[in-house]
Order: sequence, then C-alpha cells, then structure tokens
Amino acid sequence: MDIINVETTGVLGFVDQASIDALKDVGNKALRKLIDGTGVGNDYIGWVNLPQHISGELLDDISATAAQLRSRCEVVVAIGIGGSYLGAKAIIEALSNTFSAYTNNANTKVLFAGQNIGEDYLYELQDFLRDKQFGIIVISKSGTTTEPAIAFRLLKEQLEQQVGVDEARKRIVAITDAKKGALRSLTVTEGYKSFVIADNIGGRFSVLTPVGLLPIAVAGFDIHALIKGAADMAKLSLSGQNDCAMTYALTRNTLYRSGKKIEILVNYNPKLHSVGEWWKQLYGESEGKDGKGIFPASVDNTTDLHSMGQWIQDGERTVFETVISVAAPENELRIPTDKENLDGLNYLAGKRVDEVNKMAELGTRIAHIDGGVPNIKISLPCISPYYLGQLIYFFEVACGISGYILGVNPFNQPGVEGYKRNMFALLEKPGYEKESNAIKAKLK
Ligand code: PA5
Repeated sequence: MDIINVETTGVLGFVDQASIDALKDVGNKALRKLIDGTGVGNDYIGWVNLPQHISGELLDDISATAAQLRSRCEVVVAIGIGGSYLGAKAIIEALSNTFSAYTNNANTKVLFAGQNIGEDYLYELQDFLRDKQFGIIVISKSGTTTEPAIAFRLLKEQLEQQVGVDEARKRIVAITDAKKGALRSLTVTEGYKSFVIADNIGGRFSVLTPVGLLPIAVAGFDIHALIKGAADMAKLSLSGQNDCAMTYALTRNTLYRSGKKIEILVNYNPKLHSVGEWWKQLYGESEGKDGKGIFPASVDNTTDLHSMGQWIQDGERTVFETVISVAAPENELRIPTDKENLDGLNYLAGKRVDEVNKMAELGTRIAHIDGGVPNIKISLPCISPYYLGQLIYFFEVACGISGYILGVNPFNQPGVEGYKRNMFALLEKPGYEKESNAIKAKLK
C-alpha cells in the first residue's frame, strides 16, 4: 500500500531542521494526549479511533439507506452547514466527473443546501427541484442551526406537496444528536429514518461518520475504501510507524513561530477545490482562538496563479504554502501536433497535459520559494476513495497535534456564537429580548 507523503525541503531556507526537531517533544506529547484522551477538549476526540472501529453494521445500514434513496430519487439534497456539509462536498466533488451534472447519466446527484441563507440560491434550488424526483438528507448535530433549519422547512414542504406526505417520509433521512435538539424531536414525530452523530465527535471531524458517509454513498462512491484509507492512516500515525502528520504539524508550527502567519493550501487539480474548503474549516475553527492561529487560505492552480499568484510571489512575506500534489490523474490526454503550428505549441506536441501541469507546479514551487514563500509538499498517489480516506485522517490527526502544540483547545468553537447571538437579537427570537434591546441601543 502506498502512503501519502509529506516533503519539507522547501521550508529549509526559512527555518532550519533543528528548530523543527526542537518541537518534536511537544508534538509527541500532543499525539499522546490525543491517544490517551488527556488533552483539553478530550470529550470531542471520538474521531481518533473511529475509522479503525466503525462497525460493519453501520456501514451496511448507510449503504442500504443510500440504495433506497438512490432508487427513489434522481437528486438528493444534503442540507447542512460547516462540518455538516463540507466533508461530503469535498469527497463527492473530488471523485465526480466534473461535467456529470450536465450529462443525463443514471447516477443520483447530490446537491447542497442550508450552507447559506441566500434567498436566490434557495429559490433557484426549489425551482430546479420542481420537476425532479428528489429526496433530502438533513444534517445538524445540534439540531438547532438556523441555516439548515430554514432550508429544511422549505424543501420538506415542497417535497410533501410534490409526492405526498407518506412518500416524502420515505425520502427524508435525518442525521443528528441521539436525543437533543429540534431536529431529533421532528424526526421522532415524523418517523424519519435517522442516524446519530456521536456526542464525542465535533462537526468538522465528522466526515467519516454518517454525516459524510451517507451523502458520499448516495453519490455512488465507495465508503468502505474511504474508511479503509483512513483506518490505515490512523494505524500508522497513532503508532508512530508513519510520521507524515507529525512532520506537517511540527513544520507548520515552526513556520508560524518564525512569522509565517498565513498558510495557503494549493492544488493543481480543480477536483480538489472543496478539499481546500473543508481543510479551511478544519484548521480555521480548530486553531483560530485565544488571539492565536495560522490563517488558512486556499487557491486552485494554475487558475489562481493568474489572480492571487502576484500576491503570493511578491506580497507581504507572512505566507507559506502547502501543495497537494496528485501523482497520477485518472485519465490520459496528449497534446496533438498541428501542421501549421500557428499557436507555436508544437514544442508540447505528444506530451501529456499532466506533464505540463507538473512543470507548472514545480516551476511555481521554485519561484515562490525564491520569492520568500516556504513550501510543504503533500503527495497523493491518485484521487481515489482510499487515498482521500488517508488524506482526511492525515489532516485530522495533524490538526489535533497542531492545535495542542499551539496551546489551544482544537475541539471547541466559541467564536462561532457571536454572530448567532446578534442575528437572533436582530430577528427578535424569543429568549433574546435582553440582547435585542442591547443591540438596538448600539445601532441608534
Ligand atoms: O465544526 C463544527 O462543529 C461546526 O462547524 C458545525 O459543524 C456547524 O456549525 C454546524 O452545526 P450543526 O451540525 O450543529 O448544525
């Protein structure tokens, strides 16, 4: 089995190996805390041993539920926000044919809602679903989050009108807390099929639970291979047999301490765009607290070399890059010869498109390092469920280690409450009377 690899030679002109190694002791202690459950936030580390121990029965139930939705629906809308949608979106997009949304194949499409409160987005989605056989997976750990609750209320009503209450019930699956929250009560009252999000797994670490696995299975992808990849990575990382997660955590913290405050996750394969979005939430919500934390950003290259490339090459020198490099694309495409050569491209004739892409990647890494941007390289053998499973677990465990090295609780998100409090106060939600008066006074 191949394992994803982390290469850090591209940081050594900026920080030396000795300063990375100096963090090893604190890094090993951080990993120990994750394994023993002795660190802060230890009531949210259920994800650490999840892939190795996930039950076959649960995977069978997810697969059977996915098959049932697929048999009834051409479109399934996964409703959720933050950790309740980003992981599924990342994996589905990485594995999907980019243009399958425009083709008329038999595969059930998974769309997303509840990740914003855009009126036009929801209106257009409802319009799109009007002549479709659709179903809903509604996902909220707390069961009380406003964005998905609004989307679910709208789509539930639409589905019931389109197919009747009994058929709608067969096409709605809820994923939420075992007991708490409005979504659980609604699920019990309506008799929906449901899955539980374990208490000890936070949203952004939940992609390998039914939260991510059900939408991924509905989209037709192999969740057993995804879990196998994660389980292999877990075994190797937790036992210390493979130190790629540790290396990544130590290196990014060393760079942070040297003044590199922004990390840009770079891909050269547009299928990985949403992996960047998932990674931003994982690291941003886990580390950005107590006045600390690397700011996570992402770019899709070579596209963004023609926009953000200037800033990265020449702007303020507070950034470093982490490139996800995919060794082998799934398909082969060669640049043709042209007799006239009017475009002057014959020097590339016969080469694979990926060879050009790889030279763009290498050339950019060298240019950015020369321009003052340290570079970490993560190599992924290919984009498959198995290697994406490895990548997910790699980033999760590295995030736990990194957060502990930074000295924060990586598993809470107290800062997310601020906007909610103000929004509820402004909307005069019952129970927020005091906050309503306070915010109205501020606005005067
Ligand atoms: O990582 C987290 O815990 C959050 O980003 C949540 O996933 C997000 O706020 C959605 O919460 P919920 O699933 O309770 O609706």
